[in-house]
Amino acid sequence: MLRRYLWFLSRLLPKRPDPPGFSFSEDWFSAHAKRFRKHLAPLAGTPCHLLEIGSHEGRATCWLLQNVATHADATVTCIDGVKQPVFDANVEAAGGAGKVVFLNQPSRDALRHLPQLHYDFIYVDGSHATIDVLEDAVLSFRLLKAGGILAFDDYKWDDSRLREHGRPKPAIDAFVSLYAPKFALLAKGSQVWLRKTQD
Ligand SMILES: C[S@@+](CC[C@H](N)C(=O)[O-])C[C@H]1O[C@@H](n2cnc3c(N)ncnc32)[C@H](O)[C@@H]1O
Repeated sequence: MLRRYLWFLSRLLPKRPDPPGFSFSEDWFSAHAKRFRKHLAPLAGTPCHLLEIGSHEGRATCWLLQNVATHADATVTCIDGVKQPVFDANVEAAGGAGKVVFLNQPSRDALRHLPQLHYDFIYVDGSHATIDVLEDAVLSFRLLKAGGILAFDDYKWDDSRLREHGRPKPAIDAFVSLYAPKFALLAKGSQVWLRKTQD
């Protein structure tokens, strides 16, 4: 209830200006940047491979490009069923045009064609329907390297107007419980972060 009230209040405040060169209409990322920095700092400057399920306008993508995928050989693969018109320009502004591969497909299709044991970090932030989140999680597990990090957004998301197909939480809880021997829990709050310990 408090979260919804704060969210409503935040919509009334003037929007913080975008950094020069960027164009965003939503900000679902900035509140999590500190956690991203904490867990992903060791990947910065390495030839890491990152995967984002649900990229929208590229706000998280751009942060990853500027703060983690900084090595010349680093890559960011983005999956989104809807390509936002500003996505490419934002990626360009972040200096990441040559590093980003955008897959304009539902994640359930795209994830089945990506390389296994390849990614250092996977961010699950696409569909919030329970079954979709579970499928994204199970398919992502095989794509993640041992030692890699899997993060889920919106663990506590529960918007009664939008949850006809359920919420992420039951899927994340089931996945964490069933895959417990293969992961170490890094964080559990508004997001859930896991480190894969074995394949
Ligand atoms: C919350 S937004 C992502 C925000 C982004 N990660 C960020 O932090 O800036 C969710 C995105 O997931 C996409 N999406 C929803 N269902 C999807 C699906 N089944 N497959 C791929 N993308 C999906 C939507 O089009 C939307 O752009």
